[in-house]
Amino acid sequence: MRIMNMETRSTLINTGDRKQQRERRSIWSPLVTSVALMLLILIRSLPQNFDFASIAELFLVVRNTVVSASQAKAIPAVVSRPFETVWEEPKSSAELFDRDTRIIWAYWDKGLQGMPELCQHSVLSWQVRNPDWKVIILDDHNYQQYVSVSDLPTTYFSLKVQHRSDLLRLAVLIRYGGLYLDASTLVFKGFDQIWDTVEEDKLMLTSLNKLPGSGLDLFNNGLLMTKGTNNKVLKIWQQRILEYSEAPGLTLAAMKEHPRFARVANDWDDPSLGILADMVPYHSNLWMLDDLIWNNDEGVAEHVLHLPKLRWGFWFLAFPHLITESKRRQQLLLGATGTTSNNETNMFIPPVEDPDMISWKPLGLMSAITTILPLVFQDDRDMSMRLVENTMALKFTSHDLGIIEFGMKKFGLKHTLGHLYDLAVNTTSYPIQQATLDGAEAPVLVAKQAIEVPQ
Ligand SMILES: *[C@@H]1O[C@H](CO)[C@@H](O)[C@H](O)[C@H]1NC(C)=O
Ligand SMILES: *[C@@H]1O[C@H](CO)[C@@H](O)[C@H](O)[C@H]1NC(C)=O
Repeated sequence: MRIMNMETRSTLINTGDRKQQRERRSIWSPLVTSVALMLLILIRSLPQNFDFASIAELFLVVRNTVVSASQAKAIPAVVSRPFETVWEEPKSSAELFDRDTRIIWAYWDKGLQGMPELCQHSVLSWQVRNPDWKVIILDDHNYQQYVSVSDLPTTYFSLKVQHRSDLLRLAVLIRYGGLYLDASTLVFKGFDQIWDTVEEDKLMLTSLNKLPGSGLDLFNNGLLMTKGTNNKVLKIWQQRILEYSEAPGLTLAAMKEHPRFARVANDWDDPSLGILADMVPYHSNLWMLDDLIWNNDEGVAEHVLHLPKLRWGFWFLAFPHLITESKRRQQLLLGATGTTSNNETNMFIPPVEDPDMISWKPLGLMSAITTILPLVFQDDRDMSMRLVENTMALKFTSHDLGIIEFGMKKFGLKHTLGHLYDLAVNTTSYPIQQATLDGAEAPVLVAKQAIEVPQ
């Protein structure tokens, strides 16, 4: 069997991207300007152990994070069909695994050894917290053992690595079930209790944020759990991605015309979508999932369990726990009455629904960054522990790795992210506890339009 080599693929991906890049730069320049403003705020808000050189370095790291996130969102400008490779059909779940095998799946094109160290550390946290689970890292050499040619579109090799990864995770979860995690996700809990109690047909997933206006959740696929095989939601979603990927819209305009997005295309013009509007082509597969669930096509909603994003989601959404906690502590310090202090049974910190913190407009984003960064670099292990106790899994993105590396270089483990990375793998300082589905809900659906009665 022959697989196209990486270089050829990246050539395909990059061809004709320049015009799009110019357009993106113009969209992003207000944000970059805002980030410059942020430099000023940083100087005032960061802990005292930051000298000017560190602040300048951190500023560059944050700026690069924002810019690299923007540039990674390009979709292929050329779709080729070099898919002549065929391989043997993968073995069935019963042939490959014992009946009670529990699997955590991930994908990294170059495998575990090719991952950045921080991702390897995340994978270690999965194993430490779930010693009885089998961790399988799919890569560009082994995926054919688990994935059939029929699980992939003929355009597979010209897709961005993230979109290939979308397809692989669907294929293995449908065939074998289990938990799929993005490689940059830290895990703080065991998943056995959930596996022992959850219904086989449920798809558990979390969300990025809410769609401004309608309040619908923007679902994410960085964490997907389903105990059973052939999950109904995943199968319909896979079918739609496969069809769409044969002739994907290559620009936002083409996507707006595409019938697959007829019900969601209007949402992309909502100005409060902020930077997410710029990422629509990159998030095409997720918009198909949103569309499917919001409209409850074929009754999928009853098979979906929406996990609370503050306990299962992105780190910048979970960090409001820290803000709530830091306010609570300040109040305790200021006016301690003695009756509410040391109330360690009160482990649940209510989610912060601060519109500034969850907005995707550049100003909201800046406000979130400047609120979160000072929390990132403080050395308060108790507070980090509270975050860990409230969190099941914490997702970083590959663009965040620069910020994490900066913190590790400057403070070692003596700052919030250092504590989190340490606690995730250290069962002495944080013993194994089981994740719960507390706060999980049925998905919010599109309000059905009243049927117009003809005159
Ligand atoms: C501690 O918190 C719990 C949950 O909020 C509450 O029910 C309880 O009364 C609190 N205990 C004290 C001593 O304040
Ligand atoms: C785990 O944490 C304890 C303190 O809680 C520390 O003594 C120990 O060295 C840590 N283990 C590792 C492997 O880092």
